[in-house]
Amino acid sequence: MKPESWIERWKAGQTGFHLSHINPWLEKCWPQVAAPAGSTVFVPLCGKSLDLLWLRDQGYEVIGVEISRLAVKNFFAENALQPQIDHIENFERWQCEGITLLVGDFFDLDSVMLADVASIYDRASLIALPEEMRLQYVEKKRELFVSALPTLLITLEYDQQQMSGPPFAVDYSEVESLYRQRFRISRIISEEILHAEPHFRSKGLTSLIENVYLMKPK
Ligand SMILES: C[S@@+](CC[C@H](N)C(=O)[O-])C[C@H]1O[C@@H](n2cnc3c(N)ncnc32)[C@H](O)[C@@H]1O
Repeated sequence: MKPESWIERWKAGQTGFHLSHINPWLEKCWPQVAAPAGSTVFVPLCGKSLDLLWLRDQGYEVIGVEISRLAVKNFFAENALQPQIDHIENFERWQCEGITLLVGDFFDLDSVMLADVASIYDRASLIALPEEMRLQYVEKKRELFVSALPTLLITLEYDQQQMSGPPFAVDYSEVESLYRQRFRISRIISEEILHAEPHFRSKGLTSLIENVYLMKPK
C-alpha cells in the first residue's frame, strides 16, 4: 500500500485498526523496555493512537510520524489538545506538551529530527507495510538510529493466503530475519485473538495471533 492510499483511507474513515482504548499490551509490557524516565519514545506510523497519550502520561517525551494530516488533526481535536504547528523540512510539526507529531512520510525522516529518541513503540506499523517495504522500513530505522534502541513491537500473524493485507501477516521468523543482527528478540506475548475479531473471521481467517516482541540491542 502506497502512502497516498493511507491518506485516502483516513478520509474514508477506514481506520478499523484504531483502538478507542490504550493498548493493553503496551500497559503490561512497556516496563520491560526499561526506557529511561523522561526520555523520548518514537512511535512510527502512529495514526491517532491513544497510546501516544499513555506514553506521555508516563513522563516520556513522545515523537510520532504519520502520513495522514487528518489523523494528526483528529488526534489533537479528539483529545482536546491545543497544537502549535510549524514546519521542519518536509514535515508539518504538530506539538503540545510532551507530544510532537510529524505529518509526512516516515521514509523522509532524518536522524537529526530524532536525535533524542531512546526507545521505540511499534504497534501495527511494521505490519501496515507490504513485504517489500518492511525491509526498507527496518533499513530506514538503522539509518536513523546508529545504535539500536530498545523496542516494543506488536504484530499479527495469520495465513496470508486467507486474506490480503493490510494488516499484513508477519511471523516470528520474519521478525528474526529483519531484526536479529542488532537485537536480542523475545516473544513475550502470543495470543489467539480471532474470537474478538469477527471482522477478520468474516474475511476468511481461521486463526489470528497477536504477538508482542521485546527487542533489546545486542
Ligand atoms: C495500521 S495503522 C497503525 C496506526 C497506529 N500505530 C495505531 O496503533 O493505531 C498504520 C498507520 O501508518 C500510517 N502510514 C502508512 N505509511 C506511512 C508512511 N510511509 N509514513 C508515515 N505514516 C504512514 C497510516 O496512515 C496509518 O495511520
